[in-house]
Amino acid sequence: MSELAEPKLELQAVSKSYVRDKRPYPVLDRISLHVREGEFVTLIGPSGSGKSTLFRLIGGVERPDEGTVRIGGRETTGERGHISYMPQQASLFPWMSVAANISSALTTAGVGAAEAARLASQWLERIGLGDVAKEYPHVLSGGMQQRVSFLRALLMPRDVMCLDEPFAALDALTRADMQAWLLDLWEAERRSVLFVTHSIEEALTLSDRLYVLSRGPARVLREIAVPFPRPRRADVWKEPAFVRLKEEVLELLQKGAEAEHAL
Ligand SMILES: Nc1ncnc2c1ncn2[C@@H]1O[C@H](COP(=O)(O)OP(=O)(O)O)[C@@H](O)[C@H]1O
Ligand SMILES: [Mg+2]
Repeated sequence: MSELAEPKLELQAVSKSYVRDKRPYPVLDRISLHVREGEFVTLIGPSGSGKSTLFRLIGGVERPDEGTVRIGGRETTGERGHISYMPQQASLFPWMSVAANISSALTTAGVGAAEAARLASQWLERIGLGDVAKEYPHVLSGGMQQRVSFLRALLMPRDVMCLDEPFAALDALTRADMQAWLLDLWEAERRSVLFVTHSIEEALTLSDRLYVLSRGPARVLREIAVPFPRPRRADVWKEPAFVRLKEEVLELLQKGAEAEHAL
């Protein structure tokens, strides 16, 4: 893959303010970042730093005040339908079977009905959920629902997948399982991913690169290449280099918070 190839996703100097008590309330401050083809990139920043807002801008649900969004090599600022999105809580339709939750999303995204049904059933088998394809989502555990939600995003014919803290609501054990599962599946599929988390371990375990964000209004404090080779083991956190990098990111996040405090 050429370094010169146009990134799948590129934000240039994206800023956004809301209005609060009739005064401007800046949330994002000139955020520039990119995701190359097949790259797993994570945004890490404190709660309330504007990460979900950034996803709404990338997804075209809202427009930035300034700056541009480019997806798949062309400007898409304010346009919808260019990314697939996985939210923190699996938002599966309770009245549709698990398989229909996937296939209906695919047909909405332009995939033919027969192909969508084939993909849904083939992939549910592949991730070990073939047995529950015909069940309704409420019979699935939280972790299983998130797998279905991830699968739906993975199968959408889109240039970029945006995952917004997908494991934050899961208990620690399920979360660790899901990280290992996602790592395996992503390494086999290599989609272009922008992932959001406030867990440093999760970011370092999964990503090729991180952008560390400050408290709101969010700025990019630093871009960090994660050096651990792939395929990566889910217990990479045991390595001394991992522990050092984790401390570095923690310090950055703390310093970012202090700098904000001193203003
Ligand atoms: N529509 C809105 N109007 C006003 N403030 C908003 C709106 N959406 C988000 N915010 C504020 O913007 C900040 C960033 O929110 P968010 O993007 O959800 O952060 P994160 O996802 O990093 O936790 C928060 O202070 C939030 O209250
Ligand atoms: Mg959020």
